[in-house]
Amino acid sequence: MPRNRVVLGLQWGDEGKGKVIDLLAAEADVVVRCQGGANAGHTVVVGSKKTVRHLLPSGILNQHARCVIAHGVVLDPIALCSELDELLAGGCDAAKRLVVSDRAHLVLPCHPHMDKAQEIARGASKVGTTLRGIGPCYTDKTARNGLRAGELADLVAFERKLRDVLTKSNVIIRALGSEPLDVDAAVAGYMPAARRIAPLINDSITILHQAMAEQRSFLFEGAQGAQLDIDVGTYPFVTSSNTGIGGILTGSGLSHKQLGDVIGVVKAYTSRVGSGPFLAELTDARGEALRQRGREFGATTGRPRRCGWLDLAAVGYACRLNGVDAIALTKLDILDGEPELPVCVSYRLDGKVIHGPPARIDDLARAEPMYEVLPGWKKPVTGARKEADLPSEARSYIAFIEKRLGVPVKWVGTGAGRDEIVLR
Ligand code: GDP
Ligand code: IMO
Ligand code: MG
Repeated sequence: MPRNRVVLGLQWGDEGKGKVIDLLAAEADVVVRCQGGANAGHTVVVGSKKTVRHLLPSGILNQHARCVIAHGVVLDPIALCSELDELLAGGCDAAKRLVVSDRAHLVLPCHPHMDKAQEIARGASKVGTTLRGIGPCYTDKTARNGLRAGELADLVAFERKLRDVLTKSNVIIRALGSEPLDVDAAVAGYMPAARRIAPLINDSITILHQAMAEQRSFLFEGAQGAQLDIDVGTYPFVTSSNTGIGGILTGSGLSHKQLGDVIGVVKAYTSRVGSGPFLAELTDARGEALRQRGREFGATTGRPRRCGWLDLAAVGYACRLNGVDAIALTKLDILDGEPELPVCVSYRLDGKVIHGPPARIDDLARAEPMYEVLPGWKKPVTGARKEADLPSEARSYIAFIEKRLGVPVKWVGTGAGRDEIVLR
């Protein structure tokens, strides 16, 4: 039987999904992105070469895999072309193995522009978005004003529709207090990329169902993380898509019975980029040390990521909501040298212990993290390849996570490289 797997981030993104996906893609025939867009930054390190994928599935590095950008993704043709060019420069013609869904909504020039205008208008309460136009594109999708990739079948009509959407969006951009877009320049800048991706567009739902019928093995690549989910994340400091199993289901058009095992990626500590409450955050020198050792700077925007201890209350919540079968624990090596490791296991709110994030952001902000403190390890785990090479304290840290979550840890990351991993 073919093996299908879903890879989801269980924290605030940047858990190391790219590395896990690259590893599992070796066994996959089809790799599918189902939600989000070029806000994602998924890093793969092979030898001395580091690549970051934004829209293309990270599984594209498996030369045998067919890659699909399914309809739940919001697709920026300019961003896609620059990724294709980057791979082409390295000798990989990824377009040959790529299908873009005809139902995927297009990120139009007004969307990044509006993203910026909205962030400026929010002032101190800005979300800290990636400014890739993700929120405005999903907004136009649900407001039924968007343009889908399938429209590129008729480029003349598409250009007319694009002009119309851009002209209308200028009304909102002006109302937000920002400069309107130069519609002619925006259309002229957009059309070459639109023309180039037009031949890649196809009915991805039929293609995916056919591949399922042919017993191909699938890998579904989640983007962002469970705590950034539009419904169950730390709203309003979230992204605009469902980042969990629901997004994979609605974003691919496959049945829930076909998705397979759910693998949750968890960083051994926590990072977050952008605004919003972060209960286990370290705002002192220890947080800075984690940031430097873990090279916690955004793969998409280069922004410094906020760092803190592992928050198992948030991760446990994500495991319950997404039916996680196994955990890939990443960046354990970054905890080398820490004398002790506090792990947040629950929160206290108004004198009561709670085991997951409350719905109201103000409640979350005033909740208190409750920690259990585990011992650190003296012998480094960096580069370890076997369970036996992990010091006993590192094994206890992993066992603690498994026990608390009730989910087995099957992979442990001990370095950024493809082979710096312990399989359990
Ligand atoms: P993603 O968005 O979840 O794919 O994660 P990012 O690529 O944004 O950030 C994860 C960072 O951690 C990247 O720089 C990876 O190369 C790196 N990384 C992944 N796993 C490990 C690991 O086990 N150890 C170390 N040291 N780095 C890792
Ligand atoms: P990957 O797939 C980390 C965050 C932004 C911001 C919020 C909303 O690499 O894990 P958006 O541009 O989506 O409207 O921004 O979500 N964010 C991410 N943080 N990793 C990501 O993707 C992210 N994608 C969005 O920083 O706080
Ligand atoms: Mg990332």
